[in-house]
Amino acid sequence: MENRPIGVFDSGIGGLTVLKELSVILPNEDLIYFGDTARVPYGTRSKETIIRYSLQCSEFLKSKDVKMIVIACNTASAFALDEVRDAFDIPVVGVIRPGGEAAAKATECGTIGVIGTEGTINSRSYEIEIRKNLPEAKVIGQPCPLFVQLVEEGWADTDVTELVAKKYLLDMKDHEIDTLVLGCTHYPPLRYMIRKVLGDEINLINPALETAVEVKKILEEKNLLTERNSFGEISYYVSDSPEKFRRIGGNLVQMNIKDPKKVDVDI
Ligand code: DGL
Repeated sequence: MENRPIGVFDSGIGGLTVLKELSVILPNEDLIYFGDTARVPYGTRSKETIIRYSLQCSEFLKSKDVKMIVIACNTASAFALDEVRDAFDIPVVGVIRPGGEAAAKATECGTIGVIGTEGTINSRSYEIEIRKNLPEAKVIGQPCPLFVQLVEEGWADTDVTELVAKKYLLDMKDHEIDTLVLGCTHYPPLRYMIRKVLGDEINLINPALETAVEVKKILEEKNLLTERNSFGEISYYVSDSPEKFRRIGGNLVQMNIKDPKKVDVDI
């Protein structure tokens, strides 16, 4: 039972930032990643559509006999966590709760910024999660849609990204936030640039890392950790070009994406 893989899905390549943290924190586990590259982005879509897509992604992972589903996509976690939980009889973990909890713990002044897709910010999911842990918190949300393309181009550390980051983030600086949640799968590679704009003292919360820690905790509690002592295997599936996923995804997380396969989950 315990040697079954962990399933991870995202709208595309971004969830690889979560997969990477999982592979570091749980190196012996088998991981199955599904990137819905044919239907990315999720960040601008309606709640109903995101729920439908998320259920299809989860169904695919379940067909691979996974012991847990990790919703690596912030937008899907914001809109579809409850629906996926209700539909499957295995643990389902999203990225919002671990990220929100970590932000509430990290802040000293109580003013926290959250950046993400339009969908994630408009859902106010991070705000709700932060307030569960710190009711008096002031939360400033800012959608940063252009960051996704800039990171996929490999332009995280360029002048154009600095200009865009200033446009999105300087308002947050005026609100005197001391903590910022990187509430989108693509943002961890922008840490350097964000610190350049907001200053080195800012606490940057990476939900990808917090989620991997949470997954380990849940597996321990439920006695579901693998008994294997050797490294686990990672399998990749996508709904569009495997080659493009291998190239752009590999660049994003500096990993060798071995043999991604194309599947159709829209059935
Ligand atoms: N993976 C998405 C997220 O974390 C970003 C890309 C998209 O819009 O699908 O919200």
